[in-house]
Amino acid sequence: MIVLGIETSCDETSVAVVRDGVEILSNLIASQVDIHALTGGVVPEVAARKHVERLTPIIEEALRQAGVRYADIDLIAVTNRPGLVGALMVGVSAGKALAYALGKPIVAVHHLEAHIASNFLTAPDLRFPFVCLIVSGGHTDLHIVEGHGKRRRLGSTRDDAAGEAFDKAARLLGLGYPGGPAIDRKAKEGNPQAIAFPRAWIEEGSYDFSFSGLKTALLRLVQQAGDTLNVADAAASFQEAIVDVLVHKTIRAAEEYGIPRVAVCGGVAANSRLKAVMSEETGKRGYQLVIPPLILCTDNAAMIAAAGYFQYLTTGESPMDFDTIASEALAG
Ligand code: KG4
Ligand code: ZN
Repeated sequence: MIVLGIETSCDETSVAVVRDGVEILSNLIASQVDIHALTGGVVPEVAARKHVERLTPIIEEALRQAGVRYADIDLIAVTNRPGLVGALMVGVSAGKALAYALGKPIVAVHHLEAHIASNFLTAPDLRFPFVCLIVSGGHTDLHIVEGHGKRRRLGSTRDDAAGEAFDKAARLLGLGYPGGPAIDRKAKEGNPQAIAFPRAWIEEGSYDFSFSGLKTALLRLVQQAGDTLNVADAAASFQEAIVDVLVHKTIRAAEEYGIPRVAVCGGVAANSRLKAVMSEETGKRGYQLVIPPLILCTDNAAMIAAAGYFQYLTTGESPMDFDTIASEALAG
């Protein structure tokens, strides 16, 4: 089954062609990062306008690279939630128009369900159940994934998402946008033990996260230290505090539920320190660890096509009148 995936929920215009949910034939991503770097963050109106300009040529190029024609498409999968509504609307309108013109089914995909599906593109043999940490710019969620579209949410962030915390910290440290990769790079020159940043463990046994206290601690440090601040040490210590909490809670979930399989996905899964510590802790315990490659961690349409394929097999097509939704937690 040939699935055309479309992703426009934030600042990446992406189109992919995926066969049978696991084989990527093409996966094109046009990032708007240079444009949004000028304003230090995504301007929703600008993002939507860029999607309009870029989407049609990217669809054609994705088909060309995959070596398929419009007539070969069996299913269209498009992100409809959550995200910037204006941006989502561009992808959804294009997807519906194509589905209508080609007389093919369409599925409306939840962006986080797609991040989970990026694990199947990476490790098609990954067995259920597995513990899945989804860490992105907008979300920090810990789930037990029991089947396609079937999961139990153990916890999520009560305030900032991990990626958002990285982005805000980078701004405070003058490291630019996007913040995650900038902190990751700077942290390599610093000492992660230099500053004892607080870890919000929340109540005993909770799988929820909180990163706003950490951000406030960094703000206070920046204000107090001024020019004398060692930026590399601050970046390394800040990153360590986030990684520490993410790894601890994920491993505790795997231990508590007796599940020896862990997956980490979403933009922050690209973080080199998170990968190293998660790999060490799962390795010690003999757990399987799946972390998609960078291109599948950050927003991309291959994961939308993969999620759409499994969704179509389990619950069928979406009615044509589905809407875009700005905010919707992944049910669990
Ligand atoms: O999944 P994603 O591309 O978009 C959302 O759905 O949010 O994630 C983007 C987030 C940004 O906050 C970015 O700073 C973060 O992922 N990120 C990283 C790294 N690369 C991207 N955070 C930490 N370390 C990185 N290497
Ligand atoms: Zn994402």
